[in-house]
Amino acid sequence: MKVLLTGANGYIGRRLKNVLKNQEGIELRVFVRNKNSISKDKAENFEVFEGDTFDKDALRKALNGVDTAYYLIHSLNKENYKDLDKISAQNFIDMAEECGVKRVIYLGGLGVKNSDTSNHLLSRIETGEILSASKSVQTIWVRAGVIIGSGSASFEIIRNLVEKLPFLITPKWVDTYAQPIAVEDVINYLSSSLHLSYEKNLIVDIGTTKMMYKEMMQETALALGLKRYLIPVPFMSINISSYWLNLFTPVPFRVAKALIEGLRSEVVMQNENAKIYFPLITPLSYIDAVKKAVQEIAQNQVISRWSDAEGSSWDKIHLKEINDAIFVDRKESDISAYDKEKVFKAIKSIGGENGWFDYDFLWEIRGVIDKALGGVGLNRGRRDSCDLRLGECLDFWRVEDIQENERLLLFAQMKIPGHAWLEFKIEGDKLIQSAYFYPKGVWGRVYWYALLPMHYFIFNNMMKCVLKNSLKL
Ligand SMILES: NC(=O)c1ccc[n+]([C@@H]2O[C@H](COP(=O)([O-])OP(=O)(O)OC[C@H]3O[C@@H](n4cnc5c(N)ncnc54)[C@H](OP(=O)(O)O)[C@@H]3O)[C@@H](O)[C@H]2O)c1
Repeated sequence: MKVLLTGANGYIGRRLKNVLKNQEGIELRVFVRNKNSISKDKAENFEVFEGDTFDKDALRKALNGVDTAYYLIHSLNKENYKDLDKISAQNFIDMAEECGVKRVIYLGGLGVKNSDTSNHLLSRIETGEILSASKSVQTIWVRAGVIIGSGSASFEIIRNLVEKLPFLITPKWVDTYAQPIAVEDVINYLSSSLHLSYEKNLIVDIGTTKMMYKEMMQETALALGLKRYLIPVPFMSINISSYWLNLFTPVPFRVAKALIEGLRSEVVMQNENAKIYFPLITPLSYIDAVKKAVQEIAQNQVISRWSDAEGSSWDKIHLKEINDAIFVDRKESDISAYDKEKVFKAIKSIGGENGWFDYDFLWEIRGVIDKALGGVGLNRGRRDSCDLRLGECLDFWRVEDIQENERLLLFAQMKIPGHAWLEFKIEGDKLIQSAYFYPKGVWGRVYWYALLPMHYFIFNNMMKCVLKNSLKL
């Protein structure tokens, strides 16, 4: 069976790819916006097609000869995501019909259309409706609510709030009911949908026990062994709640707002199709799902994170500008006496809970300023404390290039008047650390000169600390 997986670098897609590529009888193709984003996986047994769902030719090529296609795409990070998602789904189903695809499997959200339905959920419903409207392609529309798993945006919000705040100030929507589900179960339903003997369109609602958001918080505290108090504040608006989440959790304002809007309406199962068509799957309980997610985080086994999306569309935009950078702060060190692999390992451990080698408080201050300006801030952290992969985020940076034992290039995603990069390069016996800045207008130049004193402290010490740390490995 020829299977196409779209959104293969996203939170769900990355995990599903890991399952599908090992299944016998499946020829897997993935559809990504940047081929380089999966360069590490090149040796593995699947084909890579590059493209965007707004490019019908690219879709046609990827869908040609495919039996079943997964549609795991959304553009939540974009301002006009509702319109984009409609066009994307229409293009996809048009091309699927043209290429004779038999089945499309789509993962959408739980919930129904009413006056309280959030734009995010409406967009997920519209996508499902567009895909299901096809006369010749069957659609299996799996619908999940809050997904509990390491790296899931909703779970990271709950976990961060519960871990960081002994008193949880909660809006009235925490009394809303939802039906969460472990990410492993979601992947199980999606991969099992490939083999389902059923020929009509099907909507499959999935979830574990129905519970209120406040119960999820309480059970998360229990799973983490923490005592937490919930203080309901009825007048907290969506915007205030979103700023609150933006400040205390790794999730940016736009994502937080979309999720908070969703809390107003119940996201519970509307049908029993999961039990009827997938009787062998018994979803994990909420508390077990939380324990599993926390264990994965502790053991550095996080396969995907909410922040992975958009991770593959960067280099076409920024990479050429690094050569035009006007300001460069370059430092060099002789590393002939050091083990170069260990030096690179130390470089790769930069950021997140490991800190930025020295003057962490200056980085923290910059992170708080960035959050206050509506940026991503420092607390996105990192997926894994040792490993880094192309395109993933690291505090307010994104990994733009990584060549083992040779080069790490980080692109700054903080709010700055220009574009900035931080690069570590090992060339022969030299370690070269460069900070590049491509300023936009006068403010860009003012910004660079204003930060020179801080750069002096941060960058001078950084390389020394990398080398010192490499000796401890
Ligand atoms: N995660 C959850 O908690 C959750 C809960 C319920 C339902 N769902 C549903 O599950 C599905 C997948 O969600 P997710 O969390 O895995 O999403 P995600 O992490 O945001 O990933 C979205 C993927 O879509 C790709 N993409 C976006 N626009 C594209 C375009 N125009 N052309 C090609 N690819 C494009 C992105 O590619 P790049 O890597 O190139 O950026 C990314 O891989 C969605 O329908 C979502 O509603 C998710």
